[in-house]
Amino acid sequence: MSRNFYLTTPIYYVNDVPHIGHAYTTLAADVLARYRRIMGDRVFFLTGTDEHGQKVEKAANAAGETPLELADRVMKRFQLLWSKLGIEYTDFIRTTQERHKVGVSHIFSQLMAQGDIYLGEYEDWYCTPCETFWTETQLIDGKCPDCNRPVDKLKEESYFFRMSAFQQRLLDHIDANPDFIQPRSKRNEIVAFVKEGLRDLSVSRTTFNWGIPVPDNEKHIIYVWFDALSNYITALGYPDKEGNFKDFWPVDVHLIGKDILRFHAVYWPTFLMAAGLPLPKKVFAHGWWTVEGQKMSKSLQNVVEPNMLIDRYGVDAVRYFLLREVPFGLDGDFSHSALVNRINSDLANDLGNLLSRSTAMINKYFGGTLPNCGELTPLDGAYRDKSVEMLKSVDTLMSELAFSKALQSIWEVISAGNKYIDETAPWTLAKDPAQAERLGTVMYCLAESQRLVYSVLAAFMPATSAKGLGYLGIATAPDEAALVWGRLAAGTTIIKAEALFPRIEEKAD
Ligand code: MSP
Repeated sequence: MSRNFYLTTPIYYVNDVPHIGHAYTTLAADVLARYRRIMGDRVFFLTGTDEHGQKVEKAANAAGETPLELADRVMKRFQLLWSKLGIEYTDFIRTTQERHKVGVSHIFSQLMAQGDIYLGEYEDWYCTPCETFWTETQLIDGKCPDCNRPVDKLKEESYFFRMSAFQQRLLDHIDANPDFIQPRSKRNEIVAFVKEGLRDLSVSRTTFNWGIPVPDNEKHIIYVWFDALSNYITALGYPDKEGNFKDFWPVDVHLIGKDILRFHAVYWPTFLMAAGLPLPKKVFAHGWWTVEGQKMSKSLQNVVEPNMLIDRYGVDAVRYFLLREVPFGLDGDFSHSALVNRINSDLANDLGNLLSRSTAMINKYFGGTLPNCGELTPLDGAYRDKSVEMLKSVDTLMSELAFSKALQSIWEVISAGNKYIDETAPWTLAKDPAQAERLGTVMYCLAESQRLVYSVLAAFMPATSAKGLGYLGIATAPDEAALVWGRLAAGTTIIKAEALFPRIEEKAD
């Protein structure tokens, strides 16, 4: 049944250029979006850039640009990368856009009018790189507990959001909605954090200018996280509650990295409660990538640049690797050797070989015309059942955002195909004219199973899927109706496949 499905990535800061950490969240979102589209959903996939705040202002000063010049330049780099990575988003929001500013001012005014935002005075420690306030007791050795960098003491007049008033409602909501925060371990961390007590949150700054002014008090700039989180509804046209907002809010899933979970699972839901809006259905925090065992950082000069990876290994190999290598939700390590291994074993050997072997045989034995499927033996039946069951398990795993397991279950069918060839020994059947029908059935099962494989792969590796389906005589993009056994028609022209993924012999560096 078709339904509306709304998913988001974080909006990326423009003081940094895109790396595999950013690419990872956006890619996961794209795979999920593509899968939901195959299943017939009307998908709204939002990404964008977070362009306000002191961090961006400082970076712009350092680069001798205005913040907007910096934002214009860097946001293009994000957009170029997304197009190179095959990301098909519905909308790209920039927090400097008028539609966003109008929405943020509206929410802020509403909360002020209700008394949920009030004017007070602030004295605390502030970590500029993290754009986060810390109390004295939260500091570790006098430094930011998140990034271990020095913090500054700030005393200023500030607007506060009455977050403390929402503590119990938030706990009740988390309790009543076990899937709200995922994975489960992260949910427990948030519950523990909230139970320690929610303080009112400072939601304005007077120490810099680059941001959205507080309505009616322009010397205050709205806190960058209040500004940024609101993007998820301003992009839907909020405060207009018709149109996209009506169709897509509450969001089905916010995909984020684990470092920004507190903002999404504590601040954002309480802002929404105050605004009288429904809460997100799910917030999913994925893990972090290290590189060759080390934290990725500019100072270590080990930042992995996605454009370079795509140029070197191809877009689908990168898409496959990032989602297959590490279970979504856990931390993982990137290395060139792990990537080359995956390409050689999973893509060249398993996936590519099966297609070349089977399409070569259909050409050799049947002149490239797909034969009829005769009666299935138990061996054929088991192969068919495995292929069909894979579709079901992929569907369940995708709803759990278990991308790696979904790929694993697809690869079980690919291995089963290679084994099926060994067990049915088509080259022996081909020697006996009395076995022609049997040989045809084996060829049919091989082609049909792979049609299903390449159909679901459309979510993960769009170009490879289209190529694979092309060799199997299918020119149309897969939809839900295609995901049943037996749709491939006898008589279809099957083209002998070239190697989809040539082996990489280079020594990984
Ligand atoms: N602007 C905020 C988000 C606002 S959302 C309303 C922000 N931006 S960010 O550019 O710093 O980070 C965006 C995302 O990239 C985060 O989800 C973060 O987890 C992710 N990653 C940054 N480095 C990463 C890795 N090394 N590995 C995996 N993801 C990482 O935070």
